[in-house]
Amino acid sequence: MALSPQWLDELRARITLSGVIMATVKLQRAGREWKACCPFHNENTPSFYVNDEKHFYHCFGCGAHGDAIRWMTDQRGLAFMDAVKELAAQAGMDVPAPDPRAARAAEQRATLHDVTGAAQAWFEANLASDEAGHARAYLKTRGFDARTVARFGFGYAPNRRDGIKKALPQFDEALLGEAGMLIAAEDKAPYDRFRDRLTIPIHDARGRVIGFAARILDAAKKDAPKYLNSPDTPLFDKGRTLFNLHHAAPAARKVGRIVVVEGQMDVVALAAAGIDEVVAPMGTALTETQLELLWRQAEKPVLCFDGDAAGQKAALRAVGRALPMLKPGYSLEFVTLPKGLDPDDVVRRDGRAGLERLLASPQGLLDLVWEREQAAGPLASPEDKAGLKARLIEHAEAIQHPDIRALYRREWLDRFSAFAFPPRPPRPAREQRAAPGKRWGQLTIGPLAPGTADRLRRATTGGGARDGLAQAVLAGLARHPGEIARHSEGLLELAAAEPALAAAIDALLDHRPGVEGSAMHPISRPGISSPPPDQAHYSFLMEGADPTMAREDLAEAMALLVEWPAVDSAIDAATARWDTDPDGTVAELGRLTKRKLELRARLGQMARKRAASAALQDERSEAGVAPDDRQETG
Ligand code: UTP
Ligand code: MN
Repeated sequence: MALSPQWLDELRARITLSGVIMATVKLQRAGREWKACCPFHNENTPSFYVNDEKHFYHCFGCGAHGDAIRWMTDQRGLAFMDAVKELAAQAGMDVPAPDPRAARAAEQRATLHDVTGAAQAWFEANLASDEAGHARAYLKTRGFDARTVARFGFGYAPNRRDGIKKALPQFDEALLGEAGMLIAAEDKAPYDRFRDRLTIPIHDARGRVIGFAARILDAAKKDAPKYLNSPDTPLFDKGRTLFNLHHAAPAARKVGRIVVVEGQMDVVALAAAGIDEVVAPMGTALTETQLELLWRQAEKPVLCFDGDAAGQKAALRAVGRALPMLKPGYSLEFVTLPKGLDPDDVVRRDGRAGLERLLASPQGLLDLVWEREQAAGPLASPEDKAGLKARLIEHAEAIQHPDIRALYRREWLDRFSAFAFPPRPPRPAREQRAAPGKRWGQLTIGPLAPGTADRLRRATTGGGARDGLAQAVLAGLARHPGEIARHSEGLLELAAAEPALAAAIDALLDHRPGVEGSAMHPISRPGISSPPPDQAHYSFLMEGADPTMAREDLAEAMALLVEWPAVDSAIDAATARWDTDPDGTVAELGRLTKRKLELRARLGQMARKRAASAALQDERSEAGVAPDDRQETG
C-alpha cells in the first residue's frame, strides 16, 4: 500500500501530537510547547518537549525525536502501517487501500473487530453478575487486585450454549463463527466456544481485542483443557501475536528490556507486581514472527523458562528458531526458573525482588547452548565427545550471519578443545629416564649419564637466542641451586618439550637442596657450569650480581623457556585442526603468532638488559673481556 507524502502530511496536520502523546504520558504546559519527563529514558527533571505546531517531539536528554507516526512505532511499538492506521482512525481519515480485494478484507476485519470488541464488553459485564461468583472468588485466590482485573479486562463466559448469540443479536451466526466465538457442529447449531470459563482478552499491538484465552474454573472437569484460546481467525493469528504486547511495548522502550514468559497468567501476575514489560506466546513455541516482534522492543529479549524438562526443551526450541535469525547487536537471554515454579509462583513466593534477582543475571545464548549440549548426555568416550563437537558445529552452521556464525563457532570450539584436550599433566615420565628402581627425590649425586653434556650442548647452542638462553638458565640454576625447587615444575615441562635437555634437567633436579639435605652452594658439573663466554653476562651468571635481580631474571628466563615450546605445540595443534575448523584455526593461529612475537620481544629485552649490565661491569672492572653479542637476534 503506497502512501503518498501528501497524504502523510495531511495525517500529521489533522493529528494533535500532544493529544496522541498524552494518552500514555502526562504532559505539562511549557509556553507554546509541552514538556514531561522523557518516556524514552529515566530522568527526574523534564527534558522531553512536544511542539504541536511543528508536529514533533524532542528530548534534550537522550535525543529521542520524531512525529506522531514515529511516536506510535517507537513508544507504542507498532509496525509502521499499524501506526498509520491507528492515527488515521483517530483523525477520521481513510487509509488508501491498494485494491478492492484488500479493501473488502479490511472492511471484513473491521466488522470482526466489532464482534470481538462487543464480546469482550459482554464477558466483562458478566463478571459482575450472580452467575460469576465462583469466577470472582477464583480471581481472589490468584491475588489479583481490582485494578489488575480491570486493566487486563478479565471477564466471565457463562455456562450456556447460546449465550453469545442471545447477547449479541446484532451479529449474525456466520460472523460470530468467523470471529471464533462459536464452535461449529455437524448435526446441531453452532454453540458457544467459551462456557463457564474465566476470560482474558487478547489484543493486537494496537490494543484492539482480537481473541480470547479462557481458563477453566471447575477443577473437577479433568478431561477439559485448562486453557482454551480462540482459534486462528482473520483477526487472530497465534503465531503472530504476543499476549500483552500493547502494554509491554511502551514499558519495554522505557526500561530497555522485554521479558517473555510461558503463561498468560504469568504476564498478569508480573504486571500486578509492577513489571509491565512482559509478554507471552499463545501456549505455543515462539515463531519467527514473534521473535522479530520481540527484537523490535529490545535488543536482548529475556526468555523465562521453567527449570523442568519441558521448560528446558522449550528453551532449546526457541534457540533453534533464533540462531538462523541472529543479527549484529541482537540476541536472546535466558532465565531458568527454579524447578516446578512459574514466574507467577516466584513473585508470589519471593515478591518482585525475587524475580528481579533472577532477571538480573540471565544466561546468554552462547553459554546456554554450550551448557545444555554438554549436559545432554555422557561424554566419556571419544565418540561422545565428537558427538558434542558435531552438535555445536551444527548449531553454529544454523546461524546465517557470517560474522556471528564464525564467532560462535570459534568460541564453542575453543571451549570444546579446552574440555576435550585439556593440557597434559606435567610429565610423570621421569622414572623412565632415571636409573631403574630410583625414584625422583631419592637420587644421589652421580656423574651425568654419558653423552649428557653433548646432548645439552647440541640442544642449547647454535639454535639462536633461545637455545643460548636455555643453556644459560641451566647454568644459572647450577650456580643458584636454591632456585631449582621453585622451578621444578617448569623444568619438568621443559624436559618433556625438549628431550635433548632432559638429562641435564634431571641432573639439576637431583641436586635440589632438600633432596639430599645439601647444598646451597653451586653445583659443579661439566656442561652445565661453564656457559660459553657470550652467555656469561646474565645477572644470574655474573659474579657479585645482586641476588634478587639474579633470581628475578632467572624466573623470567625460565617462564620464557617454558612458554615457548607450549606455544609451538599449540600452533601445531591448531594447524592440525585446519580441515575441520578453518575459521577457528585462522583466529587461533593469529593469536598464537602474536604471542610468539611477544615472547621474542621479551627475549630481545633480556639480551639488551644483559648487554647493558655487561657494559657496566666492564667499566667497573676495566678487565676488557668484551661480550660477544653477535648471536643475539632470536
Ligand atoms: P500453564 O499450564 O503453565 O499455565 O500453561 P499457567 O499460566 O501456569 O496457568 P495457571 O497458573 O495454572 O493458571 C502455559 C500456557 O500454555 C497454554 C496457555 O497459553 C497457558 O498460558 N495452555 C496451557 C493452553 O493453551 N492450554 C492448556 O490446556 C494449558
Ligand atoms: Mn501458573
